[in-house]
Amino acid sequence: MINVIFEGRCYGYFYRCIYLFKMSKITRKYFFVIAMLLVLFSIYNYFIYSAESYTPSSALTSQAIEGQELWQENNCWSCHQLYGLGGYLGPDLTNVYSNIDKGPLFIKAFLNSGVSSMPKFNFSEGEKDAIIEYLRIVDETGYYPNFDASIERSGWVKIKYKDAK
Ligand code: HEC
Repeated sequence: MINVIFEGRCYGYFYRCIYLFKMSKITRKYFFVIAMLLVLFSIYNYFIYSAESYTPSSALTSQAIEGQELWQENNCWSCHQLYGLGGYLGPDLTNVYSNIDKGPLFIKAFLNSGVSSMPKFNFSEGEKDAIIEYLRIVDETGYYPNFDASIERSGWVKIKYKDAK
């Protein structure tokens, strides 16, 4: 097959074949284009993978992990979003903790009594605190919606993090 493309000639006895390539003009052109694409692809990858990336440092405390489990077991996802992902019946809760008009007591009030479109969950005090702790740490990791985003030349999207200077 290869000798069809490259018009190569097959020499040799012990190895299957040793080809002497003699490319036609058109093959040389394709070869050049493919080689250029490979070079550009490598350069692009070099910049993508060597670009400095940012990893937020917030880790969940054990209380927050309990809160996250409650969040999942009780399907808060089905009505609420974090970072814009989730159900859309209720509001996004990414920054509800640090919102000056809302905050931990506001969250607790919703967990205590629910509202017409949100069920009352009958959580214990410890469970409510765990959910609040979870939302506190989620809040620390960033803003949603995040309007302070820019696309860098490397292709990465840079967004503003809360703990970044
Ligand atoms: C069946 C849908 C539904 C589920 C499930 C649900 N919620 Fe809600 N939640 C709502 C709706 C709708 C609102 C908005 C109510 C309003 O403002 O009148 C709301 C409001 C809230 C608010 C106040 C948000 C704000 O910014 O005003 C908090 C906090 C909250 N929910 C937490 C939770 C948590 C935690 C869970 C899971 C344990 C949960 N919700 C489960 C529907 C739901």
